[in-house]
Amino acid sequence: MRRTRSIHSCSECGATSPCWRGRCPSCGEWNTLAEHRKDPPSEGMEHVEVPAEPPVEILEVPAEHGAPIPTGIAELDRVLDGGLVRGSATLIAGEPGTGKSTLLLQLLASVALSGKRALLVSAEESLAHVRARAGRLNALVRDVWIVAASSVPMIEQTVVDVGAEVVVIDSIQTVFDPEVTGPAGSVAQVRACTRRLVSLFRSTSKALVLVGHVTKDGSLAGPRVLEHTVDTVLSLEGDRHHALRLLRSVKHRFGPAGELGVFEMTATGLVGVADASGLLLCDRVAATPGSAVCCHLDGRRPLLVEVQALVVGTQMPSPRRSVSGTDSARLALLLAVLERRASLALSRHDVFVSAVGGVRLSDPGADLAVCLALASAATGVPGPLDVVVLGEVGLGGELRQVAYASRRLAEAARLGFGRAIVPATAPVVEGIEMIRHETLVGALGSFLPTGVPRRLTPTGVPAA
Ligand code: TYD
Ligand code: MG
Repeated sequence: MRRTRSIHSCSECGATSPCWRGRCPSCGEWNTLAEHRKDPPSEGMEHVEVPAEPPVEILEVPAEHGAPIPTGIAELDRVLDGGLVRGSATLIAGEPGTGKSTLLLQLLASVALSGKRALLVSAEESLAHVRARAGRLNALVRDVWIVAASSVPMIEQTVVDVGAEVVVIDSIQTVFDPEVTGPAGSVAQVRACTRRLVSLFRSTSKALVLVGHVTKDGSLAGPRVLEHTVDTVLSLEGDRHHALRLLRSVKHRFGPAGELGVFEMTATGLVGVADASGLLLCDRVAATPGSAVCCHLDGRRPLLVEVQALVVGTQMPSPRRSVSGTDSARLALLLAVLERRASLALSRHDVFVSAVGGVRLSDPGADLAVCLALASAATGVPGPLDVVVLGEVGLGGELRQVAYASRRLAEAARLGFGRAIVPATAPVVEGIEMIRHETLVGALGSFLPTGVPRRLTPTGVPAA
């Protein structure tokens, strides 16, 4: 007799445990283990089926099925390095509401307009909803096929029947495989469905695109295993309250990963932004204290981002440190460096730092901009408008070199910035005057016409 037993699997990382635990032994997340019935056949299904073929010499392996399929959306093609590779599976991951369904409907319409058949498998929205959205996006075009389906065998049949070159499944968390136990969206289901669908496309000249929702902490809802199964993972990010959407290639088997595409969400869908820096800086107000522009590098794309700081005196014993788009641990470090190396003590002030436009400043090249914005906010003295700043700040208060400085500074020159405050070792870049400094204090002196105050009073007004 077949024995049925239950297992507990983690909704975050997919690890399993024979008994319930409060904390996942694999990823350390709390309360993520859920009980599932598990019987031997579904266990067997989790293996990837690789057809047994005799070994061949590499030169005898047939080349891939032709050139990639261009999506016709310039920013998307840039991230994909040319287009969707035939026989491959691409995952578009993002938080709900970032615009994944919108982008993919635009992609299907664009592919169809280029004379190729495209299919949307909608497992989340009704056909009427999709049609209404397509109307807004000018995506009501011939050769876009659509089906409302959520069971994998039905999807497989439809893919074969329609014969589309590009197939989008929205979303992988809502499709299910009837041969696997557990509800749609569970680790076992997502894993099994992805593997079945990926292997269906593997030996064809068609491209598969899957939509995957991520949780607010950025991990794919349910299985991270999904990332290993597909060939390309694109992540669509953006603050719901901002129109800017950033599309990153997190993993790409057929080209460079780390490419960045920039879109703006408009009433008629996502529109590619060729001049992202220009868009990010368009709301900048002249003569405002607490602002500095840094040359951020996202993936391989330079972006000029305004860093804003606000410093307010407080009587509270533990002042607030609030960040948006920058790292709070890095802010704590920079505040300590400012106090010890530049005599700018903000220990009795609430400090707020924000990267404008919903961009996340992840590299230390933005350190100098954060420090200068803080000093400008604390002193109430605005920095010059035509200056861009770049540099990592060391614990000794020294300015350190930043990777790809020429590419970043060339972007600043393109946007009309006349001067750049940079580390002493920065390369020469044409069209922009370099103001070189070895230390943070030196840079502060160039940025603030008044220099650095010796001491700040608790109200935030510099002492006379
Ligand atoms: P959607 O593509 O449904 O997001 P996801 O599939 O990632 O969950 O996009 C939803 C948001 O996009 C919603 O807040 C409305 C907005 N939107 C626009 O601003 N303009 C448009 O043309 C469309 C279709 C959506
Ligand atoms: Mg959607």
